[in-house]
Formats: sequence, structure tokens, C-alpha cells
Amino acid sequence: MSEALTFNHKGRINVVLNQYKKDAEEPIAVQPDEARLHYSLEQVEEKLSRLIGMEEVKKTVREIYALLCVNRLRQQYRLKAEEQTLHMLFKGNPGTGKTTVARLLGELFAEMGVLSKGHLIEAERADLVGEYIGQTAQKTRDLIKKAQGGILFIDEAYSLGRGGEKDFGKEAIDSLVKHMEDLRNEFILILAGYSDEMNRFLRMNPGLPSRFPIIITFPNYTDQELLAISEQMVAEREYKFTAEARRKLSRHLQNKVSENERSFSNGRYVRNLIEKSIRQQAVRLLREGVPDREALLTIRAADITIEDGREKTARPTVDDLNMESIL
Ligand SMILES: Nc1ncnc2c1ncn2[C@@H]1O[C@H](COP(=O)(O)OP(=O)(O)OP(=O)(O)O)[C@@H](O)[C@H]1O
Ligand SMILES: [Mg+2]
Repeated sequence: MSEALTFNHKGRINVVLNQYKKDAEEPIAVQPDEARLHYSLEQVEEKLSRLIGMEEVKKTVREIYALLCVNRLRQQYRLKAEEQTLHMLFKGNPGTGKTTVARLLGELFAEMGVLSKGHLIEAERADLVGEYIGQTAQKTRDLIKKAQGGILFIDEAYSLGRGGEKDFGKEAIDSLVKHMEDLRNEFILILAGYSDEMNRFLRMNPGLPSRFPIIITFPNYTDQELLAISEQMVAEREYKFTAEARRKLSRHLQNKVSENERSFSNGRYVRNLIEKSIRQQAVRLLREGVPDREALLTIRAADITIEDGREKTARPTVDDLNMESIL
């Protein structure tokens, strides 16, 4: 069976099945016009451009996109086009953009017709693992059902490995693996978590690494990138920093990054800080009287309240999770 490629007005790629033409050198369908191909690529670029930094991530997304496009064109000429497995592993610390990128990939794959819906179902251990026999298989099946046509994103996936053989986490892994083979074209599974935990998790599950050919590493942001993310977040909310506020934030982010805390939550830390500053600004404005437009827009240094101390308790470590006992 051969497939043909067409592009509709939204730049979406349609695959048309069962078109046959004798001359294999000729494309089977109408040649997609170049302008539309680029339009679709432009959409990908537009989505990626909203993300600060992440050069490696962007490179990988472009590669996946290019390969999918080229494979479809090869199919048109009845050339071999190996089906790309799109299940992925995301490795990185909290707040480094894993969920954001997973969501973007869902949109992209839906746009390209690889996924029918492109929605993201986020899950963690408790959503998959039950407390009694039979419950885990049922929970996993239900989740996969919800994720059909989209992406199933399992955060802190290494926690499925805790407890070893007797734990129902193992059953969840087996069930996931079975479904990702059986329903290969119907959902994409993304397992995410800290790099070191994920590496150990994979080493302990020898069948897993080959099933996830795409591995994306999300590095921590630099202070400059965190500042740029803050600027983007305030601009999106129609606020702006005074020069002094920006300096204060910049200094604070430099300190934060140099502390190199394991639980530092990168983009999420910045988002919480911005949201808190916006609340502080609101309190200040009401205290000052009726604000004008400029005052409503402006976040001053005094609005950026920096408390020190733990922003979030650290996640459990590998040792806490007793990973050694798995499999
Ligand atoms: N490169 C980026 N550019 C702009 N905003 C970003 C970027 N990376 C992260 N953010 C923002 O930081 C916040 C946290 O990102 P996200 O939830 O995607 O991280 P995560 O890696 O999934 O975190 P966790 O591991 O804690 O679930 C979001 O508000 C997101 O919009
Ligand atoms: Mg997340």
C-alpha cells in the first residue's frame, strides 16, 4: 500500500492511502507546493521561537520534523521509508521545559497528521500503579485509552521502578511496554525525569532503551536564559520591569544559579517569582491610590520580593526509592 502526501490550507499534511501509479519515478500524488511545505515549517519555527534557549531540543525537534516530512515524500516515490518510532525519553531537572516541549510536540504531530488529536495526558506513578492485584493493569489501560491520539507523558518515570519485582510499578512498566508495541501508531509515550535517575532506571530495565530511540536532554538554564524567560513571562502578561527591577532580578538569578541546588526548579521558579511580584505590585498599587496605565504596567524592584529558603522540597533520590531492588 502506498501513501500520498498533500497539504491542506492550514499547512496540515494529509496522507492519502491507496493511490497507485505505474511509473515509480513519478510522485503518486500532486507535488506538494513548496510554499505550503515552508508554511508548515514556519509554524514549527514559530512554536520553537517562543522557547528561550534549548538549542539542542530545538535541533532534535527540527530533525524529527524533517525526517517525517522526507519519509512521506519518499513514500510518494515508493522508496523505502522506515517508520520512525516516536516514543521518547526526556531527561532533565524540574522546570527545564519538559512538559512545555511535550505539549508542543503534541501540537506539531497533530498538525502533521501523525497523531489524530495531539493532546497531552500527564501522569505520574500514582495514576498508573494500583494498590491491589489487577488494579495497575486497569489503571494503565484507562490512561492509555485517554491518551489515544495524543501523548502520554509520565513524569518522574523512574519512580515506577521503586520497590523492585514485587511492586506493582513493575506491572505498570510491563503493561506500558506491551501497549506501546500494540498501539504503536496511536499514541506516543514520553517518559521524563532527572537524568541520573532515568539512566539508572533504563539500566535496570534492559528492554526499555531500544524502545525509546529519541532521547532529549534538557539542561538547566543559565541566569541569562532565566532572565530572558522572566522578561517573556512579564511581557505576555502585559507588564514590564523598571531598569532597577531587572537588575535586582538579574543579580538574584545569578546567585540562584551559582548555588546549584538540586531542587532548583528553573523556569517554574521564575514563573512563581513573577506571579508573586505581580501580587506584590497589586498590593502596592492599592496602597498608593488610583494607579494610571503606566503604574499598572510597571513592576518595580520593591515588588520583587526574594525570600530565601527552600522553594520546594527536593524530590526523592534514587537511594530513597530503593532502586537497587528492581528487576
Ligand atoms: N525555554 C523556555 N522558554 C520559556 N518559558 C519556559 C522555558 N522553559 C520553561 N519555561 C516555563 O517554565 C515553566 C516550567 O516549565 P515546564 O513545566 O515545561 O517544566 P518541566 O520540565 O515540565 O518541569 P517539572 O519537571 O517540574 O514538571 C513553564 O511556565 C514554562 O512555560
Ligand atoms: Mg513537567
